[in-house]
Amino acid sequence: MKKDLLSEYDLERVDYESIFEGAHRLKRMLKDGKVHTPLKGKTLGMIFDKSSTRTRISFEVGMYQLGGIALFLSSRDRQLGRGETVADAARIMSRYLNGIMIRTFSQESVEEFARHASIPVINGLTDLLHPCQLLSDLFTIIEKRGGYEGLKVAYVGDGNNMANSWINAAAKLPFHLDLACPDGYDPDAKILKRGVAEAPAGVTLHREPAEAVRDADVIYTDVWASMGQEAEREERMKRFEGYQVNQPLVDLAKKDVLIMHCLPAHRGEEITAEVIDGSRSVVIDEAENRLHVQKAIMEILMR
Ligand code: CP
Ligand code: NVA
Repeated sequence: MKKDLLSEYDLERVDYESIFEGAHRLKRMLKDGKVHTPLKGKTLGMIFDKSSTRTRISFEVGMYQLGGIALFLSSRDRQLGRGETVADAARIMSRYLNGIMIRTFSQESVEEFARHASIPVINGLTDLLHPCQLLSDLFTIIEKRGGYEGLKVAYVGDGNNMANSWINAAAKLPFHLDLACPDGYDPDAKILKRGVAEAPAGVTLHREPAEAVRDADVIYTDVWASMGQEAEREERMKRFEGYQVNQPLVDLAKKDVLIMHCLPAHRGEEITAEVIDGSRSVVIDEAENRLHVQKAIMEILMR
């Protein structure tokens, strides 16, 4: 595996498998009450330029469970916002820390940070990608279905960071990915083109949600206005009409379909309460798995 985890596209199938194997093992150990502290004495820095519930808590708790500590570095309190260069910050933080997790707006700035850092850099969400979430989602599918090979995953809604991450994973792993996004809200054009060209099982972009979800094993959705798009909210609510994951749409999928969402969710917008709180929903397991999967990632990269 590379020094950093910046994009799902940087991972090969063996890397995915070793993260899933690690997450499975660490989850088992935690449930069995076994103490496992391979990162004793190590420190993870966590840069947050956007809000978070799951990412912050799961990285902080995960680091503690692995024997190390995590430092929360919010944008308000750092010199970076006052004009210190990314390169200087990366070089200096590399002298204090053993790893860094970054949640920010631009993917390029995370990549720039990683280029100048001598320690592992983990992408904790950018406008473009959300690899830790995607890995936890796939791990959840493996737990529930025994694997991902040959399954049909339907992504309905905004062509945002989660959609891009799903396409990147489908470019490497043999599951079918069918997306349905409204015109003008497609996934990143470069990522989509590459995904369509390289996906072993196939990536297809539809306009009609019904086409994407027919006989699906998994239905995935995400908010219609992501962090940083608050000003577009009203316009987006109109444009995404018809893209809600509701019971009539779910009825087109397989009977035992898994309903997934990275959370936070807006009930009554991208998904109905009936569906997200219904018997097919695995959203709470997905959120729990952030902890186990990120521990596996940190163990691999920071040990
Ligand atoms: N899914 C996710 O990343 O949640 P947070 O924004 O709460 O971290
Ligand atoms: N697409 C959402 C995901 C939140 C975890 C956002 O970027 O706000």
